[in-house]
Amino acid sequence: MSITLNIRSRITLQDGNSMPLFGLGVWAAQSGKETYDTTLYALKTGYRHIDTAEMYGNEKDVGNAVIDSGLNRDEIFVTTKLWDSGLGYDHALKAFDASLKKMNLEYVDLYLIHWPEKGSQLDIWRALERIKKEGRSHSIGVSNFAPKHLKELLVKGNERPVVNQIEMSPFLQQKTISSFCRTENIHLTGYCPLARGKRFDDPKLCRVAKGMKKTAAQVMIRWALQSGHTVIPKSVRPERIKENSNVFDFNLNKEQMKILDGLEQGLRFCPDPLEIPKN
Ligand SMILES: NC(=O)c1ccc[n+]([C@@H]2O[C@H](COP(=O)([O-])OP(=O)(O)OC[C@H]3O[C@@H](n4cnc5c(N)ncnc54)[C@H](OP(=O)(O)O)[C@@H]3O)[C@@H](O)[C@H]2O)c1
Repeated sequence: MSITLNIRSRITLQDGNSMPLFGLGVWAAQSGKETYDTTLYALKTGYRHIDTAEMYGNEKDVGNAVIDSGLNRDEIFVTTKLWDSGLGYDHALKAFDASLKKMNLEYVDLYLIHWPEKGSQLDIWRALERIKKEGRSHSIGVSNFAPKHLKELLVKGNERPVVNQIEMSPFLQQKTISSFCRTENIHLTGYCPLARGKRFDDPKLCRVAKGMKKTAAQVMIRWALQSGHTVIPKSVRPERIKENSNVFDFNLNKEQMKILDGLEQGLRFCPDPLEIPKN
């Protein structure tokens, strides 16, 4: 990945659709005005990818902002996620209908199973395959899936998951999942890319940031992009939304990437997918 990336750069997924490498996450953005204003501001700033979920309770506000942005629908990539993946095929279809209705959109770009549940995920996956076939989600994928969860879908599914959204930052690199996904050509989206702001004072990170006249947050986002992942930092503050998007005018060199690669600490805010039982 090089400096030639820009805020709208897309990666082609294995189903032939494309996805912007940079986006806005809206977990913990309050439903109503906060999410609406945040999403609209991000779209005005040049973001073209919004990551929401049934569980965040703010799909409606994301949908309203997408519509009110005045942008063509096909310029914006919208992801949402199925929450209760243990409740079966019919529930998954109903939950998707409810998400789409809340967003007041005709389709989403990507629908994900938010977390794997113990037991088979095939039933749920069949529902997502149907949603894709009907054109109501252009792509389908998963989140927080370890190789053991993915294997079932890869072997028995009619469609392959094209994205796995997992927690990822220089301080948590998830090597087992990421190397499996690389081999299977499953694109990774990294969430908590800023480690929720808890490592901005790391001395090595600060040294790289100072050398580039960038903030620690910008360097963490750039690291994700140059590592080849999609990245979805969250902020509800206009100045930070702007700051987080200002990562396309510099390049981390090999040595700087190596320093960041060396920051692995297993720092995790969400459960470890490797520890979620399959059966
Ligand atoms: N699939 C999943 O299971 C899953 C789980 C977690 C998250 N996600 C997705 O990933 C997105 C990002 O993850 P996250 O929200 O957990 O964590 P994050 O993006 O690593 O960090 C967000 C936190 O950092 C602050 N922040 C943002 N930009 C900053 C900056 N430039 N300087 C200082 N502080 C800054 C934000 O505060 P302010 O808002 O106050 O600026 C917020 O407290 C979520 O919003 C969600 O869409 C998915």
